[in-house]
Amino acid sequence: MFKEFLKNGFQKITLEQKALGIIYQEILFKLKVEYLINDDISSIHKKLDITNLNNVRLSLINHISEFPEIHNLIYDLASNELDKLLGPDIAVQKKINISIQMPHDQSSLLDLHTDVLAGNSPYEVILWLPLCDVEKTASFYLLPLDESKKYNQVGFVESKKEIFEKEKDKFYWPKLKFGEGIIFSPSLVHGNVENIENYSRISLNIRFKSLFTPFHKKKLGEYFIPLKEGIVSKVVREVGFD
Ligand SMILES: [Fe+2]
Repeated sequence: MFKEFLKNGFQKITLEQKALGIIYQEILFKLKVEYLINDDISSIHKKLDITNLNNVRLSLINHISEFPEIHNLIYDLASNELDKLLGPDIAVQKKINISIQMPHDQSSLLDLHTDVLAGNSPYEVILWLPLCDVEKTASFYLLPLDESKKYNQVGFVESKKEIFEKEKDKFYWPKLKFGEGIIFSPSLVHGNVENIENYSRISLNIRFKSLFTPFHKKKLGEYFIPLKEGIVSKVVREVGFD
């Protein structure tokens, strides 16, 4: 089941539809009420001004992160895969990250990086999902494990621009339909470029990890919260050993 993840450090998945529908409707509701966006979420560039985009993004993040049961809903999107990857005791990122890439917006670009070198634990996985069909520059790029691993061992010696030029032919650009997502390792080099497609992309990303693997700079209680407890852990807590 995880052949692709083992080989490349990423895996495309099909999301659970009911949870996705609830999350999608909630984001759409907020966009409609506050920003008068119609049903076409990939046309938001026709209504939103680029200068206001970061405020819109932050207000969506705050809104969805406080939605009741949001962490369980996000987990439901990929529960089969997450259970198999991480085991029964799972921590989830507290904030639900949202990014918006409107056509030709150069102010929201995410430069080439790995999350591990930015302070995330290599034991995390990232779930990334778009709220419309995406491909090419409306998506983002991932450098597969074999090519990415050298950068995690030594950090970035070359400039990000040099690495981009050197590796760009090996990038994988997820082509995803609405209803699909991708799970990837924070050790992978990734980023995005100017969206030169003719539609906007809104996407969510959230990190999960086993409660019992090492945390790095992003700590439990601050950046992560407990999501799920396995049977043995419940008994241990009941006894009072946690
Ligand atoms: Fe990242």
